[in-house]
Amino acid sequence: MNFDLKTLELAAAASEKCDLLIALIPEGFKPGKDSLSTLAAQALKNGDLATKAGKNLQLYQAPAVAARRVILLGAGDGAGRAVRQALLAVGGAIKAPQTKRVVICFAGAMQAGAVSAAVQAVAEASYVYTTTKSKVEARSLSRCVVGVPSASGVQEAFDTGVALVSGVEFAREWGNRPANHATPTLLADAAKTLAKLPRIQCKVHGPAEVARLGMGAFLAVARGSEEPLRLIELRYNGAAKDKAPIVLVGKGITFDTGGISIKPAAEMDEMKFDMCGAASVLGVFRALGELQPEINVVGLVPACENMPDGRAVKPGDVVTSMSGQTIEILNTDAEGRLVLCDALTYAARFKPAAVVDIATLTGACVIALGGVRSGLFANNDALATALQEAGESAQDPCWRMPLDDDYADGLKSNFADMGNVAGRAGGSITAAKFLQKYVGELPWAHLDIAGTAWKGGAAKGSTGRPVGLLVQYLLNQAQVKPGKAEKAAKGLKEAKPAPAPASERTAQTKPAAAKRAVKSGSV
Ligand code: BES
Ligand code: MN
Ligand code: ZN
Repeated sequence: MNFDLKTLELAAAASEKCDLLIALIPEGFKPGKDSLSTLAAQALKNGDLATKAGKNLQLYQAPAVAARRVILLGAGDGAGRAVRQALLAVGGAIKAPQTKRVVICFAGAMQAGAVSAAVQAVAEASYVYTTTKSKVEARSLSRCVVGVPSASGVQEAFDTGVALVSGVEFAREWGNRPANHATPTLLADAAKTLAKLPRIQCKVHGPAEVARLGMGAFLAVARGSEEPLRLIELRYNGAAKDKAPIVLVGKGITFDTGGISIKPAAEMDEMKFDMCGAASVLGVFRALGELQPEINVVGLVPACENMPDGRAVKPGDVVTSMSGQTIEILNTDAEGRLVLCDALTYAARFKPAAVVDIATLTGACVIALGGVRSGLFANNDALATALQEAGESAQDPCWRMPLDDDYADGLKSNFADMGNVAGRAGGSITAAKFLQKYVGELPWAHLDIAGTAWKGGAAKGSTGRPVGLLVQYLLNQAQVKPGKAEKAAKGLKEAKPAPAPASERTAQTKPAAAKRAVKSGSV
């Protein structure tokens, strides 16, 4: 799908040829003299339309309007959140098969983040998964024009929104693929395709290399599977070599049966989503490849299946992690922390400025926070604040959870340095305490996305979260000068992707070339 940004007043939008014109009408809407503004003003006056986000009035073949259909859409305060809510409320019309071209027009003052939110909401509403369907009913929407009263100052937000769509859709695609179409090997192949983008490199390690590294915890999880494990290592080099990178670690369990501590049958299919942390890391790299910010990022994904088998690790087995710490595997279903702990130890070799792991780690986090906010755990307040604020401005929110040392008490073991589970109480926190034993003094944060990475029920499917939060955080970091941490809090509109240094500014490093290199969701 193509997005275009245009300077368009409502009057001019009326002559845009398209299947659907959506006019966003915010609070305090000041009508012009054109026919659509007049219609909207009358409808508001008569109570047939309200500016509350999502309230709408639909018109067909309205006089002097080129679009076949028009939706006058309440946009609340015109901020990103309201714009997103409003567009998703008319998502059915955006997704409809007859809607091939849509124009979204801001009829009045818009707030920071609204343009990016509009782009993302249109993409979200029109997304369709097709990979494993024989009768392909692909997304019918092919072009979306975003019309703004004045394009000045919104180009960057627009570009960020478009890149985020590529990243989110990449993550959704891999999250949605069934486990037999998203094995560790296939996931690694997907990561390798990202290396076609400028400034991105990818290395993939197999079982022999992982054994050589001494990753006994990761190896233990993979033992029960016929599929060979993969350790994916991605790099995005957008800044000087000596600039410390931010390391992202994504849980890549391509299917979690629970292993010998096997899960019940009901809804076990949803454990194909247990690699959504990994998918979000890949999605972030997809977006970085387009945005080219001046920052260094490393992506690590320990990928394997968690299966029961004659060779599978058993409850009570003790393994030695790469850090040298031994672990009594009391429950083979607490496998995420086992693959992550070795990846976290490995992360230290990049001398990172910060490490953030992203994992569908615990059912307990779903109970605690539901599907609205991801769980955030951090040993560093500045990092926690930066992630929280990025989540708020990207409308991909998280909520900070505690990490008191007392929560680690239950991890004590009589036979190893620690057990891999504590009791049921505070399950998402004890999981985080386990991970914390592997990061030492590094600034570290853990995002438990078990509740936010996918939806169940009729709308079953991955959400692409928290690609938005992570990309926003990274863009903010690209702007932070040492000692000016408060800048990290600034919103989307100010997240300026710095141009490549002159020496690197070849045709290859232009975002347009990057877009051509990898098509969204097609790899
Ligand atoms: N992948 C699951 C976490 C999960 C469960 C996410 C349900 C979303 C919905 C993870 O590997 C797991 O099985 N965790 C266990 C840990 C327990 C054994 C301590 C859990 O949450 O039940
Ligand atoms: Mn599990
Ligand atoms: Zn799992």
